[in-house]
Amino acid sequence: MIKEYISRNQDRFLSELFDWLRIPSISADSNYKRDVRSAAEFLRDKLTDAGADSVEICETEGNPIVYAEKVIDPSLPTVLVYGHYDVQPPDPVNLWNSPPFEPVIKDGKIYARGACDDKGQAYMHVKAFEAMSQLKLLNCNLKFMVEGEEEIGSDNLGIFVAKNKDKLRADVILISDTGMISLENPSITTGLRGLSYVEVEVTGPNRDLHSGVYGGAVANPVNALCQMIASFHDENGRVTIPGFYDKVEELTASERAAINKAPFDINAYKRELGIKELKGEKDFSTLERTGIRPTLDVNGIWGGYTGEGAKTVLPAKAFAKISMRLVPNQVSTEITALFTKHFLSIIPPYVTARVTPLHGGEPAVTSTDSAAYKAASKAFEEIFGKTPIPMRDGGSIPIVALFKKELGLDTVLMGFGFDTDAIHSPNEHFGVKNFFLGIETIVAFYKHFGKK
Ligand code: BES
Ligand code: MN
Ligand code: MN
Repeated sequence: MIKEYISRNQDRFLSELFDWLRIPSISADSNYKRDVRSAAEFLRDKLTDAGADSVEICETEGNPIVYAEKVIDPSLPTVLVYGHYDVQPPDPVNLWNSPPFEPVIKDGKIYARGACDDKGQAYMHVKAFEAMSQLKLLNCNLKFMVEGEEEIGSDNLGIFVAKNKDKLRADVILISDTGMISLENPSITTGLRGLSYVEVEVTGPNRDLHSGVYGGAVANPVNALCQMIASFHDENGRVTIPGFYDKVEELTASERAAINKAPFDINAYKRELGIKELKGEKDFSTLERTGIRPTLDVNGIWGGYTGEGAKTVLPAKAFAKISMRLVPNQVSTEITALFTKHFLSIIPPYVTARVTPLHGGEPAVTSTDSAAYKAASKAFEEIFGKTPIPMRDGGSIPIVALFKKELGLDTVLMGFGFDTDAIHSPNEHFGVKNFFLGIETIVAFYKHFGKK
């Protein structure tokens, strides 16, 4: 029945999603404020059409939150669906094979910014809801909360959640904003890393200098910053910040064995990324390095002259954006403090430096014993023909830990993207198959979770 409904409506589902993808709802860039709002309004209208009883645009200090409800019987369980309609900036735009906000299908994949993260995945929930309303399959109450600031840290969503605990009452949170291993090997995400993100500034002389007149006598802040950054890892790929690993949860041998049982083709992984060798913390596998170990990475570094051609200059300042991915039981504010203390302690005498924390979020681990996880597992099994593997993901959705803390709710992370979908990169895409199988799997989830 559901398969038939999807195939009868598939062209419309895709063309609606394409309309949504055409709206450049880039939260990081204030020039796109109006587009961000139209993406919210678009979703409000689609949730109304899909059969919600009440749909609102909830204003915040920043971008609005789209909230919708369908209550069929207060005595039934309630599922709160979360997603985000904001997207990352598309830069560098010249590396896209087709314009980022003009979606196209090529080789069975939808190419556009947000195709996978997260408009494509959030839209599966809207269409699953529509199908269940039309086919009279609804067997639990539904709430939708879709925000426009996930890619910039969800600060206002945190405030909204704390203020609206009653309104958001539910039995479980359902999110599709993560990945799965492959269509042959479905998986359910059971862990997300936390994040501590800082910007650093190193200052040398009081102005940019001629690199010939002064070079060799005056310290170069870019050189100094690079040396400091180089010292953040030791020869075993471990982060050198004192105390960084103090709270890291160590997994048992059998837990680690379970992680490493997941299918993973190291050669395909390297080939797809165009790299000869992998690099990471000694004595941990790739899946462990991204799933259960904390990291430190420079996200961007600048200073001096970066325009066309050569300009001989000894820059006055150097900057870097640095992120640390965190695992249970690290706490982002504590890690930011450890980083800051360490960074300030290693400043060489010939420059000054400062650290500005940008944002943080806590790691999360979800249960595989809950009724909701079991329903999700059965749903994947039904649609993909295989029991899904529980898997820790390396990315972050800080609001998941907050849902637990503020609302006491567990989350089920039913993601349908692949690691290779190029989220945040040029040529982001999402499989057309993934999109339709996702809708089916979501409908199957409700079948197993709601009233029988
Ligand atoms: N959907 C991603 C997170 C993600 C991707 C989790 C793949 C697991 C697998 C989300 O939109 C995202 O990009 N989060 C940011 C953090 C946020 C605070 C900016 C991230 O992980 O960098
Ligand atoms: Mn996302
Ligand atoms: Mn993202």
